[in-house]
Amino acid sequence: MAEARLGRLRLMLWAAVVAAAVAASVIYVTRGPDSVPGIGGGTYSLIDHNGNAVDQSMLVGQPSLLFFGFTHCPDVCPTTMAEMQLWFEQLGDDAGDLKGFFVSVDPSRDTPELIKGYVSFVSDRMVGVTGTQEEIDKIVSAWKVFAEKVPLEGDDYTMNHTASVFLVNDRGEFEGVISYGESTDIALNKIRNLISIS
Ligand code: NI
Repeated sequence: MAEARLGRLRLMLWAAVVAAAVAASVIYVTRGPDSVPGIGGGTYSLIDHNGNAVDQSMLVGQPSLLFFGFTHCPDVCPTTMAEMQLWFEQLGDDAGDLKGFFVSVDPSRDTPELIKGYVSFVSDRMVGVTGTQEEIDKIVSAWKVFAEKVPLEGDDYTMNHTASVFLVNDRGEFEGVISYGESTDIALNKIRNLISIS
């Protein structure tokens, strides 16, 4: 039955998303006090939600929350965007110059216009990022993000992707992650810590 198959597929997707989140958490737990070499960096030429050119320097000069997702995402991305909205709201002025980045792992569908509408509901601190598949691949690879196209029935597809939010310091370096489903208190503590060291 198509419904049952779709149900099983969804379950498998969730398992993969959870596995990716756990993998990212393990990285966080086992990292030392300094930023981890090997995650982050890289060079890429992308465009923001206003159509302006951006590159790796977008992550330098202020602490950032970096998330990889796609606007057609049925669950993980909308949930994470709602969480980010809450975090920014709770931080208020304490957020300082903190920025949030939503980088598309589905650039062929995620136009700047589409992403603009998507992130504008979260906060004016959010920057939506898309670009060519080739350049998106570079940032995805630099941040060791898992992103994979999963065919659905018909011509449709979804994306299976890392669900964690990366904490990035003002030098553009990886400082840790907020796992998918992390409690608001713990997430806010991590973000406050990021702001204090940036
Ligand atoms: Ni998603």
